Amino acid sequence: MASERIENLVRQMTLEEKAAQMVQIPYAQTGREESLRWAKMGAGSFLHVLGDDAREVQRAALSSRLGIPVLFGIDAVRGHALNDRATIFPTQLACACAWDREIAKDMGKVTAREVATDGLHWTFSPLLCLSRDARWGRVDETFGEDPYLTGELAAAIIEGYQGGDLASPESIAACAKHFIAYGEATGARDAYDSSVSCRKVREVFLPPFQKAVDAGCATFMTAYGSIDCTPLTADPHMLRDILRDEMGFQGFVVTDWSNVTSLVRNQRVAKDADEASLLAALAGNDMMMNSPEFYESVIRLVKEGKLEEAVLDEAVRHILTVKERMGLFEQPEKTGKPGCIGCEEHQQIALNAARRSITLLKNNGILPLKKVKKIAVIGGNGDDIRAQYGDWTYFTHPEPIPGRQPVRPYTTVREGLEKLAAEKGIACEYAYGCGPVPSEKDDLDAAVKAAEGADAVILVVGDVVSQFGENRDRAELTLSGKQLELFALLRALQIPIVTVLLSSKPLVMGTIPDETDALVAAFNGGAHGGQAVAEALFGLFNPSGRLPISFPRRTGQVPVYYNQLPGWHGGKYCDLPNTPQFVFGEGLSYTDFAYRDLTMDAETLTASVSVQNVGKEAGLETVQVYFRDCVSSVITPVKNLIAFRQVALQPGESQRVTIQLNRSDFSLVNRQEQRVVEEGEFTLMVGRSSRDEDLLMVNFTL
Ligand code: BGC
Repeated sequence: MASERIENLVRQMTLEEKAAQMVQIPYAQTGREESLRWAKMGAGSFLHVLGDDAREVQRAALSSRLGIPVLFGIDAVRGHALNDRATIFPTQLACACAWDREIAKDMGKVTAREVATDGLHWTFSPLLCLSRDARWGRVDETFGEDPYLTGELAAAIIEGYQGGDLASPESIAACAKHFIAYGEATGARDAYDSSVSCRKVREVFLPPFQKAVDAGCATFMTAYGSIDCTPLTADPHMLRDILRDEMGFQGFVVTDWSNVTSLVRNQRVAKDADEASLLAALAGNDMMMNSPEFYESVIRLVKEGKLEEAVLDEAVRHILTVKERMGLFEQPEKTGKPGCIGCEEHQQIALNAARRSITLLKNNGILPLKKVKKIAVIGGNGDDIRAQYGDWTYFTHPEPIPGRQPVRPYTTVREGLEKLAAEKGIACEYAYGCGPVPSEKDDLDAAVKAAEGADAVILVVGDVVSQFGENRDRAELTLSGKQLELFALLRALQIPIVTVLLSSKPLVMGTIPDETDALVAAFNGGAHGGQAVAEALFGLFNPSGRLPISFPRRTGQVPVYYNQLPGWHGGKYCDLPNTPQFVFGEGLSYTDFAYRDLTMDAETLTASVSVQNVGKEAGLETVQVYFRDCVSSVITPVKNLIAFRQVALQPGESQRVTIQLNRSDFSLVNRQEQRVVEEGEFTLMVGRSSRDEDLLMVNFTL
């Protein structure tokens, strides 16, 4: 039920004003004049408009007949990064490596403050799709492959964005996207059909979105794609029955970019804009992003008696209620915290997130670097802020604007290492060698020359923005260009090699995992990613990242997510080991941890385990809790994450970690699509990664 103010407004609104309220206008594509005209007509929202332009649009909206404030949305998905002065965080994938709700929450809080300070209200974040196929172009935007971890981090970042009170000057509205199963598109081709059952959607893909609803997420975004040939934009079962009635979502639903138009142009389930608008409105989309034809169509549909005006009333109520919760009727412009954009305090928070994202995947003892007199830093990604940022920044989305320069502060891996080396009196030489994409700058000989005589080579490999993002799915995940050749040439020098993977996603690394001396996954660490890598290599902090996603050995092995179904007969390849290269939850430390004495009290559902730091450094361990249902009415995954805890331990220190579980943690979705707990025997697994060898196990009966 909407408030009296909203009900009053809805009563006063004309059909045209209601239709306009349901439209979201892209400012840049529409242009200033036309945007101002839309604002005066009562358009509900604009996207991607900053500063004075936004203020001008707002003034126009406030001068319209009812003066309903406009809601400004932006893709501030890793900091307010489309603004070149803002603090640029690691990507969601990199942040997820920290397995830390506080890191996600801090990222949300800083982003909100900076977005609000720019006078804007709403971020199209977080992205809660799961990355179960690394070929997909948008893996970097996700929290990885697991529903539980994704849901936990989602709730935390939403809390950061929205705070306790959406009306606070420093809070902005969050948007859980893309609803739903968008990452599961056939062949990992962006926005293609997802061939999954509704049961599977409920089992795997809904849980993170449910946590977003429970966290009070103000808006949801409809996915581009379709499930079993029904576009999400035209699916009332998903948007109404499931999202609103079952999951209890109370905010408003915005479509993704041109979804209504696409019903005609791409998905061909509507013959024209009128049919598409009818489908979209009936399905339960409240606001249409960049499908301005919806306006005329929906007015016509109501006038011709094809659509009840009550459908518009309902959508408008949802939108206005969010505006009301945000306090926009009293204060249409967010004020944020003047001077905070890109401020030192925020940069430190982003640096901390980058440090916590560093994930050590192999170390034969070369790290942390000690007793070296000369190091060689090699590789295009070692000195390319574009690659380090990843996409959705002012400088990288979708491509750098010609002539635009990156804005400090930022530190590449090369710069970070050079600075620390200089402080320690260590010689440091950089050579480009090659980048992920072949270019005339490639010079492997020069790289080999630079490496000769070094005590350690730091080789930075990965991908660049032209290889990922929307519309950029990859059929081949192997390190591209001459990167593998470069590794082989450097390896032949018999100098220790530390390989740093600076990429948007898991990549296939040829012989590197076997032959490198150390391997660090840094993903896209944002402005301070390079500093974090350098500090980790020199041991200024002890890396504690854990992979939120599994790495395939070869592209043909995908999907390799850990919570797969038990296979038999087939279920494995005859030309490859069945295991991934690196598994979900994996990550080393400069110290070592031992687990013992796992117990599970089946009455109270309390699990306990002792964890000891058995190495020589202080370190942070992520205790991971998985379970398996031993016998179930439908086939259930070999294991599923249900909890994790982090413990900071001094050398020799031991701690008994107790984790309270709930009955619902052990649920499954049965053939009737109900989430139930089937009583019987379960296996509880606790340890340092999702790999069986890393887990203590105990059986218990529910
Ligand atoms: C993306 C969304 C994004 C929107 C607005 C779309 O292409 O799929 O994630 O929020 O554009 O920029």
